[in-house]
Amino acid sequence: MQIFLDTANLEEIRVAARWGILSGVTTNPTLLARERGAGFEETIKEIAGLVDGPISAETVSEDADGMVAEGVEYAGWHSNVIVKAPSTPAGLEAVSRLREKGIRCNVTLVFNANQALFAALAGAFVVSPFLGRLDDISHDGMDLIREIAAVFEMNPEIETRILAASIRHPRHVVESALAGAHIATCPFNVLEQSMAHPLTDRGIRSFLADWESRKA
Ligand code: E4P
Repeated sequence: MQIFLDTANLEEIRVAARWGILSGVTTNPTLLARERGAGFEETIKEIAGLVDGPISAETVSEDADGMVAEGVEYAGWHSNVIVKAPSTPAGLEAVSRLREKGIRCNVTLVFNANQALFAALAGAFVVSPFLGRLDDISHDGMDLIREIAAVFEMNPEIETRILAASIRHPRHVVESALAGAHIATCPFNVLEQSMAHPLTDRGIRSFLADWESRKA
């Protein structure tokens, strides 16, 4: 499974890229709005300069013509840009039209397996089921990943990747991998939490103390 970073914060991307684990980045209008003063196009281009992998940039139109126009514009910014369109009928039409132009799309805000299947049939490069937001309303987000993975597996002509989104904690990452997701897009704090373990810290302290003691 690949790890993407779910952020528009350039410093977070720089740090995670240095770890050598980053295969791509997802952004959305909320994440971009958090980075006050940074322009959309400039931010996406800067991200593309930091990470050599898919960078999702989200459309904000509600009709297919508008999404297609935005998607064509975003795709012109860098060859790694993936156009994000919502899981709506207009989004499906936009994905289908963008695909005909050779532009890859990420269908976002997926909350059931039919949405994922239809997105795949329309030609989505990736689909983004939102785990955390389902968990928030007492559904099991992981069940959705399992269901989508099973449907895609039974239909080998589908090449669409499953991108686990709305990740809230480290268990979401490993469970997504086990459930069949190809990618997990994580907030930076989840990457940090994933690497934190008290026994690792304790082990380092005791190894260093023992190393120092040989000088005494
Ligand atoms: C995915 O591409 C989205 O940007 C993201 O995962 C949304 O997560 P949230 O539910 O934490 O806002």
